[in-house]
Amino acid sequence: MSEIINNSSWRLRMGRITAARRMTAAEKWFEIELEDGDLEHEPGQFVQVELFGVGEAPVSVCSSPTRRGRFELTVRAAGRLTTHMQTLKAGDWVGIRGPFGRPFPVKLMIGNDLLLVAGGLGIAPLRSLINYVMDNRREFGKVDILLGCKTPEDMLFGDEVKAWEKRLDVNFSCTVDRGAPDWKGNVGLITSLIPGVTIAPERTFAVVVGPPIMYKFVIAELAAKRVPERQIILSLERHMKCGMGKCGHCQIDHPKNYYCCKDGPTFTYEEVKAASRL
Ligand SMILES: Cc1cc2nc3c(=O)[nH]c(=O)nc-3n(C[C@H](O)[C@H](O)[C@H](O)COP(=O)(O)OP(=O)(O)OC[C@H]3O[C@@H](n4cnc5c(N)ncnc54)[C@H](O)[C@@H]3O)c2cc1C
Ligand code: FES
Repeated sequence: MSEIINNSSWRLRMGRITAARRMTAAEKWFEIELEDGDLEHEPGQFVQVELFGVGEAPVSVCSSPTRRGRFELTVRAAGRLTTHMQTLKAGDWVGIRGPFGRPFPVKLMIGNDLLLVAGGLGIAPLRSLINYVMDNRREFGKVDILLGCKTPEDMLFGDEVKAWEKRLDVNFSCTVDRGAPDWKGNVGLITSLIPGVTIAPERTFAVVVGPPIMYKFVIAELAAKRVPERQIILSLERHMKCGMGKCGHCQIDHPKNYYCCKDGPTFTYEEVKAASRL
């Protein structure tokens, strides 16, 4: 496993919120500028966000490193820190450690077809890769993006999603579990979109990010399409404390003692399958 923790990841850096926007009832988007330079992350990595007197939590960077100077986070209110974050606005400061974690294997993906599958808040980490691919479009083969969420109101990055839909160099499909009177798109689980995608399995990398329940069913569809297990990339979540392989909180039950924070959060399905539980 690669060790993607550099010295600057250990220290707490101050980040100023330069823009903040409510996305849904439970999720808020933030743009942050570090006072001492770029974050220098790779798609798929996360930061530890610290609110003084409240605590710390891991949050995926949802912007692409191709867009330098500032980075973006999308935070869902789940508990103490993430609920407190919903009150923050432009001009407020947060502590940032990182970037942490093994990124998506972008170098291996170059020259290959991509199938990018996001469910719910999974769009946050995957958006860093999607926009990286958009900004380096010629380096990749065919690109399919599948997006799923519970209802149309739960859809994140709606304006950007409309722009992806219009692009001629990517195939974009979206579905919701439950429609609404003005919803004209697909209704059904995200797995229902996969049979409609033409896949050349040997040259396809499938990147899947979403709630744990989604993985099992999406992986079964990818297996039916014969995508090799080493080319199915997942991003896993574990309860984390230190974010850098020291406390053992995020350990995955596996003979190799994987730590989700430093050996992941991205894993190939081949690696995950070898673990005794997801
Ligand atoms: C690598 C990684 C990337 C993440 N990216 C994002 C992101 O982009 N946006 C986002 O909104 N959230 C993200 N999360 C989840 C986020 O870190 C948790 O929601 C957050 O830590 C909860 O902290 P809290 O103080 O708000 O909640 P707490 O008050 O600490 O806990 C609330 C409840 O959530 C449980 N909990 C806390 N953390 C986790 C966890 N990781 N998995 C399962 N249960 C948990 C607690 O046990 C408790 O029941 C990510 C998590 C990981 C590990
Ligand atoms: S969060 Fe401490 S070892 Fe992973």
